[in-house]
Amino acid sequence: MAPISDDRFLGKRIVLGVSGSIAAYKSVALLRALVQGGADVSVVMTKSATRFVSPLTFEVLSGHPVATDLFAAHQDMLHLTLPERADVIVIAPATANVLAKCALGLADDLLSTMVLTSTCPLILAPAMDGGMWDQPAVKANTAALRGRGALVLDPEEGPLASGRTGRGRFPDENVILSAIEAQLCPRRDWGGQRVLVSAGPTHEAIDPVRFISNRSSGKMGYAMAQAARERGAEVILVSGPTALPAPVGVEFIQVLTAEDMGKAMTSRLSWATVVIMAAAVADFRPRRPSPEKLKKTGTAWKGLELEQTDDILALLSSQRASQILVGFAAETQAVASHAKEKLRRKGLDLIVGNNVAAEGSGFGSDTNAVVLVDREGRVTQLDLMPKRVLADRILDAVKALGVPATRSTRPQLSDTK
Ligand code: CTP
Repeated sequence: MAPISDDRFLGKRIVLGVSGSIAAYKSVALLRALVQGGADVSVVMTKSATRFVSPLTFEVLSGHPVATDLFAAHQDMLHLTLPERADVIVIAPATANVLAKCALGLADDLLSTMVLTSTCPLILAPAMDGGMWDQPAVKANTAALRGRGALVLDPEEGPLASGRTGRGRFPDENVILSAIEAQLCPRRDWGGQRVLVSAGPTHEAIDPVRFISNRSSGKMGYAMAQAARERGAEVILVSGPTALPAPVGVEFIQVLTAEDMGKAMTSRLSWATVVIMAAAVADFRPRRPSPEKLKKTGTAWKGLELEQTDDILALLSSQRASQILVGFAAETQAVASHAKEKLRRKGLDLIVGNNVAAEGSGFGSDTNAVVLVDREGRVTQLDLMPKRVLADRILDAVKALGVPATRSTRPQLSDTK
C-alpha cells in the first residue's frame, strides 16, 4: 500500500474521473490515499463505471456528491465549474474508450465534456484488457494526448481480469500518487543539471539476421530519464533497442551496438553534469560477423569467436572531469559485495546493485528492489518498488553526494552524432 506522508496533497483540489473498467474498484483505494494526503477530491463517474462500483462508495470517501450525469439539473454547469476549480484532473482507470474520447475531443458525457473544457493538467491511468493497449488506434490516441501535454501513465504488465496475461493492468497506486504529487508540487531540484542516461540492451550481430543480446527492457533507464526531466534537468537518453516510447521532453538517441553506445556516450560526456549508465551493454560480440546469413547445414557457427566490447563506464570514468558517474550492477547473487567491487573498479560515485534473478526485480519487470552503494561506502537497501519511484530515490542519493555546480550555457552538441 501507498506510504502516505500526511498532508502531501494539503489544499489541493483534484477531480478524480472514474471510467468503466473492472479496475474501478482500485480507484476507491486511490481516492482514500488522496483524501488521507489532504486533498479535496470531487469524483466524476461515467455511466459504465457506476456498473462496477456504486457512486455511494466514492461519495462517502470523498465527502462530496458524485457527479455522473451531464444533464442532471442539480449538477448544472458542473462540466465547467469542476475543472475550473481543479488543480489537476486524474482519470483512473482510463479505458481505451475514454483515451479515444479525450484524444478526439468528444464531449458526449460529463467526464469527456469536463476534460474538453478544462485547462488544468490531465493525468490518465489506463487499464484495459484483451491486448487493447497494443492496438495501433490506442497507441495513436495515447501519443496524441502525450503530445498535447497530458500525462498518460503506462499500464502494467501481468495477469489481467480476463485470465490472460499482458500489458493493461491499472498502474501501481504509488506510481499514480507520485505522478499526481509531481504535477501538483513539482520538485524542480534538478534544474540546471544535464543528465546523460543510457538504457536498454545492445545488439551484436552474428550475421544479418541473428545477434547476441540480453534481457534488458530499458524500463529502469527510461524511468531515470523521465524522473530527472520531471525534476527539472535537461536529459539526453541514449537507448539500445527497446519497445518503449521515448519519454516526453528528453533528447532521444537510438543506438544498436555497444560500439555505437560507447560513441554516443563518450561524445556527450563533456556536456553532462551527471551520467547514469543503466544500459545492459553486451560484454561480448562476434569477432567477425558474417555478411551472409549462416546456414545451419554448414559448420561456420561452430567456430563462432567472441571478443570483448569496451567497458563504456570505465571509459567514461577515465575521461571524466567533474561529472558524477552512476552505474548499475546486474547480479544474481552477493549483490552488495559485487556492486561494491564494481564501484571501486570502475571509479564510480554511486552504484545500483540489482538482483536480476529475484521475484519482481530486474529485467522486464515494472518493479525493482536494489541496494545502493556510494563512494563513501554507505550501503542502502531499498525494498521492492515501481521503477519510476525507485528512479526518484536514486536521484535523491545522487543529490546527497552533491551534484556538481552547473555551467550557465549549454555546450553545442553539433560535433556529436
Ligand atoms: N557497462 C558498460 N560497458 C560494458 C559493460 C557494462 O558501461 N561493456 C556498465 C553497465 O551499464 C553498468 C555497469 O557497467 O552500469 C555494470 O555492468 P554489469 O553488466 O553489471 O557488469 P560488468 O562490468 O559487465 O561485469 P560482469 O558482467 O562480469 O558482472
